[in-house]
Amino acid sequence: MLEKAKELLEEIKSFDSKDSNEIESFRIRILGSKGELKQLFAAFKEIPPADKKEFGAVLNEVKQTAHEKISNLKSNVSSGSNVDQKYNDLSRPVDQDRLGSRHPISIVRNEIIDVFHRIGYQISDGPEIEDDWHNFTALNFPKEHPARDMQDTFFIRKDPDFALRTHTSSVQVRIMEEQQPPIRTISPGRVYRNEAISARAHCFFHQIEGLYIDKGVSFADMKQTLLYFAKAIFGDDTEIRLRPSYFPFTEPSAEMDVSCTICSGKGCNVCKYTGYLEILGCGMVDPNVLENCGIDSKVYSGFAFGMGVERIAQLKFNVNDLRLYSENDIEFLDQFRSFI
Ligand code: PHE
Repeated sequence: MLEKAKELLEEIKSFDSKDSNEIESFRIRILGSKGELKQLFAAFKEIPPADKKEFGAVLNEVKQTAHEKISNLKSNVSSGSNVDQKYNDLSRPVDQDRLGSRHPISIVRNEIIDVFHRIGYQISDGPEIEDDWHNFTALNFPKEHPARDMQDTFFIRKDPDFALRTHTSSVQVRIMEEQQPPIRTISPGRVYRNEAISARAHCFFHQIEGLYIDKGVSFADMKQTLLYFAKAIFGDDTEIRLRPSYFPFTEPSAEMDVSCTICSGKGCNVCKYTGYLEILGCGMVDPNVLENCGIDSKVYSGFAFGMGVERIAQLKFNVNDLRLYSENDIEFLDQFRSFI
């Protein structure tokens, strides 16, 4: 019996096949319910006690070797045949589906950057953790301004104050401190505000702010630049409207609306029957801000504007819930495949 078991072990070790039927009948012959291993185990009780130990060890080895051998041979068969089918056909088109897609915020941000790049704007970047000077004080925020409150701003440290920037105007302060006019720059980036997360508000979002400073820059220049921008992003028929507003760092300040992208100004529920959609804040840079940054306000003037990228993306793609932009839902993101 011991001899028989040892022979079987050798046979298993030397067995080789790439044919799945052949491997399966080998498995049944060795490991099946009426297989050879079963019979050897059944013979165990007839073995003299002195030989039982050795016989048992060989049987266990037979069992283990057979299992390993069969699973190895089977895995070779399955991967081998797939590989052949897949790679032998050299005319097969490349598997396009493996590509990811760009995030809608990146798509819109790149498009806006491109629009301003064409008319000579540089791109500038700055830190997301800002000191009080660059985020507030240099921008003419009074000491008691509500934006400086904990309820609106995420403070990292108090005295001296450090916060997550609430707008990318802070980058523009840095640029004005470093460079003399002419300055033409846009600052894309992530900003943070202490808001409860809902369909309409989020604690972080993306902005693009712009700044143009030179001799004799006027409100009319700003209006024309923003009209060019609105037409480039929303289409040639787009009209703009400026409404008076207030920002500490611009005087005069305005909010800009574009004619509704859905009803073209006729009135619908997206524009709440006003025909217009608000998209950005803007204004002439306050002389105090220029002076704070070392620019002579008697020689130079300029305009600034700032917009939320999510807001523009919402209008372009008709997405009504802001939360979708940060949930990383594959099915949502997949819809933007064609914009790569
Ligand atoms: N910084 C303003 C905001 O975050 C936007 C703005 C920029 C307004 C420049 C006017 C001029 O809301």
